[in-house]
Amino acid sequence: MSTIQTIAENYQSFNPRAYLQNNYIPPRADFDNPGSVVPWKLRCLADACASGEIGGQLMVDIGTGPTVYQLLSAFELFKEVVLTDYLEVNREEIRKWLRGEAGTFDWGPYIKHVCNIEGKGEPWEEKQNRLRARVSKVIPVDIHQPCPLGKELGPGSIDTLVSSFCLEACSPDYGAFKKALGNITRLLKPGGHFLMIGALEESFYLAGEAKLSVVSLTEEMTKKALCDAGYKIRDFRAYVMPQSMRTDVDDTKGIFFAWAQKETK
Ligand SMILES: C[S@@+](CC[C@H](N)C(=O)[O-])C[C@H]1O[C@@H](n2cnc3c(N)ncnc32)[C@H](O)[C@@H]1O
Repeated sequence: MSTIQTIAENYQSFNPRAYLQNNYIPPRADFDNPGSVVPWKLRCLADACASGEIGGQLMVDIGTGPTVYQLLSAFELFKEVVLTDYLEVNREEIRKWLRGEAGTFDWGPYIKHVCNIEGKGEPWEEKQNRLRARVSKVIPVDIHQPCPLGKELGPGSIDTLVSSFCLEACSPDYGAFKKALGNITRLLKPGGHFLMIGALEESFYLAGEAKLSVVSLTEEMTKKALCDAGYKIRDFRAYVMPQSMRTDVDDTKGIFFAWAQKETK
């Protein structure tokens, strides 16, 4: 049986490059196929961000990993963006991309796609430069701590949280998942927004040598956890993973997107 400690030990062999190859190239990231999962995720995020209701001073992404696709619509709405991860190897991968170092993952096709959704006719390189300039720091996080970002950012200090495939992928069971959700929710200002993406009915995923266990969530479990943590659900969408996108790198049956807003009382 997994514990928070055994999960932390398993993450020590997480390989960012292998994780990126498993999840962020075709068929899962096929921009010519509107049924592909990555375009679906980007559309969900773009729609919430186009509502005009999200924005402010500070946005924080919890468990950024080696990816930036989850920021591409939302970062535009904030003065400052902070990225976080539990592993130094992921924080370093992101810092290298922020510095524009050769050999890092090419997020260009993702950025072009989001520019197309936004329809402003902007050269995609400008968005990439803006994102790189908007990120102020990449810091450690542990969602299982009562203060996940330590002294850096305390309760009620964040306008909007983003988190993709983190909470269910680092928690041993539903109880720990809910507790971790409570820990990060305390960081949000009352009325603050949370854009969350996660796996449905997944039990494991691979990242190189690492095999990580995942809390298997249903749509109902996810919605209940958000409501119990003090959120009003503003939008909830689910995607069924088509057979063509099911590979041996995980056993996920689907993906959810939630736009949730922290109650003000
Ligand atoms: C499945 S990856 C998600 C990466 C990325 N956000 C994405 O959308 O693909 C899970 C991430 O959670 C991080 N993680 C592991 N343990 C954690 C913990 N205790 N607190 C916060 N993040 C953790 C891992 O390092 C990894 O980057």
